[in-house]
Amino acid sequence: MKLRRWMAVGAVAVATAATLNMVPATAGRPYDPTAQTLGALGLRHGLQIGTAVSADALNDTADPEYRKIAASEFVSVTAENAMKWESLEPTRGSYDWEAADQLVNFAKRNRQSVRGHVLVWHNQLPQWLTEGVADGSISKQELRELLRKHITTVVKRYKGKIWQWDVVNEAVSDPWDTPPTLHYKGFWAENLGPGYIADAFRWARAADPRALLFYNDYNIEAFGSGNPADDKTQFVYDMVKRLRAQGVPIDGVGAQGHLGTQYGNFNTFQVTEALKKFTSLGVATAFTEVDVRSQMTEAVQAGNSEEINPRLQASAANHSVLMKACLLVRSCLSYTVWGFSDKHSWVPGWFDDPPEGLATIMDENYQPKLAYHEIKSDLILAGPPFVLPRIAPKPRR
Ligand code: XIL
Repeated sequence: MKLRRWMAVGAVAVATAATLNMVPATAGRPYDPTAQTLGALGLRHGLQIGTAVSADALNDTADPEYRKIAASEFVSVTAENAMKWESLEPTRGSYDWEAADQLVNFAKRNRQSVRGHVLVWHNQLPQWLTEGVADGSISKQELRELLRKHITTVVKRYKGKIWQWDVVNEAVSDPWDTPPTLHYKGFWAENLGPGYIADAFRWARAADPRALLFYNDYNIEAFGSGNPADDKTQFVYDMVKRLRAQGVPIDGVGAQGHLGTQYGNFNTFQVTEALKKFTSLGVATAFTEVDVRSQMTEAVQAGNSEEINPRLQASAANHSVLMKACLLVRSCLSYTVWGFSDKHSWVPGWFDDPPEGLATIMDENYQPKLAYHEIKSDLILAGPPFVLPRIAPKPRR
C-alpha cells in the first residue's frame, strides 16, 4: 500500500478509536483515566468542562496555583465579573477592556473557549446608568439606544472569540418575589418592557453571526408544577418557545446550576427531562455556573466532621446529577463551574445569613473534594450507547 493510503487508514483508525472512546495504551504508560483532567475527559464526549475565572485571583502573584489549575483542568472559561457592564464601562463613554481582554488572551494561550458573560442583566450595572434613569436624565428611548450600543460594542470587540454569549441573564422573577406570580423582573423589564429580550438577541446576532446566543438563569434545572405562574422552568420554556416562533436568534438555554444541599435534591432523570424539553425547542443547553453550597453551622465552622461529611457528600451528589444529565442529553454543550476552589467562591460573600460555603469542587488548598472525583468518574464511565457526542446547533440567523 502507498504511504498516503497507510496514513489515511491510520487517521481513520485514530478517529474510530476516538469515537469509540478507546484510548490506546502503550506498554510503558498504561492509560490512566483518573490522571486526566476534567477538560480532557469531557472532550471524549464533545462536552466542554469550564470554570468562571476571577480577575483578582488570576493576577494574584502569591497564588500561582490558581492560574495553573484554571489553565490546565478546564477547556473553557467565563469571566466571573470582568465582562459585566459596570466593569467594562465604569464611566459613561469610556470602556475599560483590561480585565476582559486579559481573560480572552489567557483563554487563547491555553487553547480554551470563552463563554461571554453577560450582556444584559439587572445587576452590576454602572452607577451612571441606573442613577441617570432614576433621576430622569436618561430617557427610556435613550436607555434602549444605550443598550443597543453596549451590546454592539462588546460583541463586536470579541467577535469570533466567544463561543457562547449569555445575552440575557435572570430576566424572570422567583416565587418568593412580590407579586409571587412569575413575571419579567428587574431594571430592564421595568424600564423597557419585556421586548428588550428579543431586541438584545437580535442586536447580539447582528454583531457576531457565529457566537451561540444563550438565555441564562437559575432555578431552571428541573420542571416543577408545570404552571408558568409558579414554575420558573416552565415560564422560561414558554418564553424560549415564543422567541423561537418569532424568529428571534436564540441558540441556547443555560441553567446556572447554583444548588444547595439544604434543599430538595433533583434526580438525574428530572434534570435530563428538563434539558430534553429545552432541546425540543431547537436550542442547545448548558450548565453555566455550577456550585452546590451548604449551610455553615457552628459545628461545620469548628471543623466537626460529622456535620461536614454529609455536606461534602450531598454537594458531590448534586454536582454529579447535573453532570450525568448533561452527559445524557446531546444538546448539553458545556458544564461550567462557578469557580473551582472554596478559596475563591462567591458563596460565602453572597449568602451570609445564615452563612453558606463548601460549594465548589476543590477545597481552599486546591485539594480535590468528593465532588471533583465524582464528576470525574461520571466522565470516565460514560460512553455509548447511552452517552453520545454532542450536537451543536448552527447559530440562528
Ligand atoms: C457573581 C460573582 O461571582 C460575584 O463575584 C459578584 O460579586 C456577584 O456576581 N449569577 C450570575 C453571576 O449570573 O454573574 C453571579 O456572579 C452569580 C449569580
